[in-house]
Amino acid sequence: MSRSAHPAGPRHADVLPEGHYSAPPADLNTLDHKVWAQTVGRDADGVVTVGGVDVKQLAEEFGTPAYILDEADFRARARAWRTAFGPDADVFYAGKAFLSRAVVRWLDEEGLNLDVCSGGELATALSAGMPAERIAFHGNNKSTEEIRRAVEAGVGRIVLDSFQEIVRVAHTAQSLGTRQKVQIRITVGVEAHTHEFIATAHEDQKFGIPLAGGQAAEAVRRALQLDGLELIGIHSHIGSQIFDMSGFEVAAHRVVGLLKDVRDEHGVELPEIDLGGGLGIAYTSDDDPREPHEIAKALTEIVTRECEAARLRTPRISVEPGRAIVGPTAFTLYEVGTVKPLDGLRTYVSVDGGMSDNIRTALYDAEYSVALVSRTSTAEPMLARVVGKHCESGDIVVKDAFLPADLAPGDLVAVPATGAYCRSMASNYNHVLRPPVVAVRDGEARVIVRRETEEDLLRLDVG
Ligand code: LLP
Repeated sequence: MSRSAHPAGPRHADVLPEGHYSAPPADLNTLDHKVWAQTVGRDADGVVTVGGVDVKQLAEEFGTPAYILDEADFRARARAWRTAFGPDADVFYAGKAFLSRAVVRWLDEEGLNLDVCSGGELATALSAGMPAERIAFHGNNKSTEEIRRAVEAGVGRIVLDSFQEIVRVAHTAQSLGTRQKVQIRITVGVEAHTHEFIATAHEDQKFGIPLAGGQAAEAVRRALQLDGLELIGIHSHIGSQIFDMSGFEVAAHRVVGLLKDVRDEHGVELPEIDLGGGLGIAYTSDDDPREPHEIAKALTEIVTRECEAARLRTPRISVEPGRAIVGPTAFTLYEVGTVKPLDGLRTYVSVDGGMSDNIRTALYDAEYSVALVSRTSTAEPMLARVVGKHCESGDIVVKDAFLPADLAPGDLVAVPATGAYCRSMASNYNHVLRPPVVAVRDGEARVIVRRETEEDLLRLDVG
């Protein structure tokens, strides 16, 4: 893609480089609630506020960069999922999107269950008092130690991901004198239309046991024979950031097909089906995610219809949304450090974080939005690229963005929809310190995960 064909224009948004996806918004000061947390707005001076606290105050008190999380919005989204699915289904929040002890308590209070996928997530959940029976334990290579801790703690289900694991969990449960509730994760052969690295139900990848070739049926056969296991259902997760329900439709059809085969072969009707997570959110105003009640209705109808056709009792459904709950509830607050116009190309805006607090742009080519939040501006839009402070040219936070042309060092900018997979995938690259997560609610702000310090780094480095 040649950008030299656009002499001196793009910086002021009158000529866009090839491949740019949209024109500047009519008003750069407008905050689209599709991408911003629900309580976000601007005060009379034009400063952005969230949860009743303004961002200048947040920057002063907690520093930048910082993830600012709208607690009321988080709780509202969790509740919306819970309500949408009702008492006959279960919603497991996927902790990998973002997990902290405060979040675990909110989920507990809002009546959600929790999906964990490592010993660390399990420890966080248990230490915050999540009842073990409301925890599902995932992972394609759980260690024997992790399995033992999960069984001992009494987790509600372990999702089995391989033939080896069927035996490992059965053995562990038996040696602890218990019977572990399990589901088997299968891959149904659906190609989710998302980035290759976050699609998980096509066959050529590491998760689950393929339905193809009778492997999933064989896994069920083995699990049913083992005393240490109580097989409660089948699990399928087709991928992430999905908007189209047709993938779920095919997945549900195939999972129900397996339930029918199990009934026909073993005379057993497995009571549960888990359709995983993966529902998309808006990262830019161009995205149109579905509401939880629409998703619940669609999934329930699909499963009910498929079960009626197969003459099966409709199993209890569970889902595992992560991003759809936490993603839109947080933004990353940065301070602008340098503004570098490159004539004929765009303006590079360097902020005080980068790929260590948001790896998604570099890793998945993810799109984000950005806004000037410490003031409003009537300056014309300039085409900008928001980059971090790392020693790497791929250190891009927002690839294509319009910001006011009078943007200057010291301004605060914020990138919305960073609640999911940003803090949880944050790194210490270049020994940059991971930002805190600050929860705001009703005019109050409190740190729920503190900023990393140089002492934290040096504590791990034993010399
Ligand atoms: N359940 C299972 C079994 C999963 O593997 C995942 C995500 C979820 C639920 C939650 O998916 P969600 O609703 O949050 O999309 N780091 C990538 C996403 C990886 C997701 C892995 N598994 C990203 O930043 O997009």
